[in-house]
Amino acid sequence: MWLRGLGLVLLVWSPGVLHAIHGEGPCTTPSLKDGYFVPVQDSYSHGTLIQYSCDTGYKPAAEGWWATSQCENGVWSDGPQCVVVTACPRPAIPNAIFYHNSKHWYENGSIIHIICAEGYSLNNQSNTVSCANGTWSLELVCQKHPHACDPPTNVSNAVIIHQKYKEVFRELSEVDYHCKDGFFTQDKKSKKSVKCEAGRWSEVPNCSK
Ligand SMILES: *[C@@H]1O[C@H](CO)[C@@H](O)[C@H](O)[C@H]1NC(C)=O
Ligand SMILES: *[C@@H]1O[C@H](CO)[C@@H](O)[C@H](O)[C@H]1NC(C)=O
Ligand SMILES: *[C@@H]1O[C@H](CO)[C@@H](O)[C@H](O)[C@H]1NC(C)=O
Ligand SMILES: *[C@@H]1O[C@H](CO)[C@@H](O)[C@H](O)[C@H]1NC(C)=O
Repeated sequence: MWLRGLGLVLLVWSPGVLHAIHGEGPCTTPSLKDGYFVPVQDSYSHGTLIQYSCDTGYKPAAEGWWATSQCENGVWSDGPQCVVVTACPRPAIPNAIFYHNSKHWYENGSIIHIICAEGYSLNNQSNTVSCANGTWSLELVCQKHPHACDPPTNVSNAVIIHQKYKEVFRELSEVDYHCKDGFFTQDKKSKKSVKCEAGRWSEVPNCSK
């Protein structure tokens, strides 16, 4: 009876419980498959770092052969996680689109198709990469398509309507310039459409009174 009462008091006053109320809760021992970490404790306070490494045949999901994970509000950042050494991380290709089958890790032998965002194209004729022993076969880059355009130029007393600002506009994109109230284009209209062709915009309007 006395011991049970003491246990209750310890639970209530445990610093971890108090911190949890303030959103800086401790973490429990991480579950790490195919790897090991130091230090091993039952509880880790917010902000604690652990170092981990993986068994033979596995590597940390983060860079390098050993990695760090931090207790942040009761959750371990970056896993910790060990993956098969031959697996490849999702390729980091700016301006590429990954569809629903996008995963964080791809197993050895996986082949994936890379599709670039609108206005971008691949730097290589091949549009697939394959995972072999932990690295991708090719370094693909999505670069601005040679026929795509930069944003249309700034025209005094006009704005672009119906179109959000973008870094790149694909070929055949059209945008509408709309003159400020009381201003008109050379042919006395309030707006003018321009089109991106072979990397250039057709002639932009000149809005004047
Ligand atoms: C990984 O895949 C590559 C390409 O498919 C293959 O040549 C290689 O033997 C595989 N490696 C292992 C360890 O299975
Ligand atoms: C594609 O990449 C491979 C491997 O890096 C290279 O040998 C080849 O020349 C590239 N092809 C083009 C068209 O850039
Ligand atoms: C991958 O590893 C296997 C077995 O270790 C080896 O036979 C193969 O040549 C390697 N492939 C590449 C692309 O490094
Ligand atoms: C567009 O050009 C006008 C006149 O040259 C200038 O006043 C305005 O600040 C420019 N706007 C931007 C976003 O550069």
